[in-house]
Amino acid sequence: MRFLVCLALATAGIALHPLCAAPAAPAASVNDSDTTELGGRMDEMRVSFRKLRRQVSDASANASSLELVASLRQAAEQSAALAPARAAALPESTRAAFVADFAEKMKAFIAEVDKLKAALEAGKNDEAVALVARLESLQKSGHREFRSAKRD
Ligand code: HEM
Repeated sequence: MRFLVCLALATAGIALHPLCAAPAAPAASVNDSDTTELGGRMDEMRVSFRKLRRQVSDASANASSLELVASLRQAAEQSAALAPARAAALPESTRAAFVADFAEKMKAFIAEVDKLKAALEAGKNDEAVALVARLESLQKSGHREFRSAKRD
């Protein structure tokens, strides 16, 4: 199609029209959770949380665990300001409440992350292990409530 347009422009003596000079722009990304901004932040959380789960019981790794907690917290903060993709499929009358509920649950998640930080700072690794389990359960319930169907 672009070729035909360029041919027409060239015939009309407008060969240097930007449409002909520039390569076609990539198509806009689709709005699913693989490409959303929230999906990106969640993916960052996955990376930090995976490492954290493996090492949280090890007191000698607490300095590194605290860095992972800081990354997890930052991505969770950024997530709280975004809206789940699923919101777009909801009736307008319930959409705002759904997004507000999501923000609230993310904030509750962050409050637990802060407790985890305090436990690690105090060298209370047993407590930290329990808090990681708590975060895991908030992850599960958050995904059940706010993620699109067919995802865990
Ligand atoms: C340790 C905590 C968590 C981890 C590691 C995590 C991880 C992930 C991952 C890997 C994805 C898929 C991202 C992608 O599609 O590329 C995802 C998606 C999602 N998560 Fe989480 N998650 C966590 C906590 C939560 C919590 C607490 C909530 C809600 C309160 C939540 C809500 C969502 C939603 C709504 C999506 C879909 C993304 C979208 O709608 O665009 N997650 N999460």
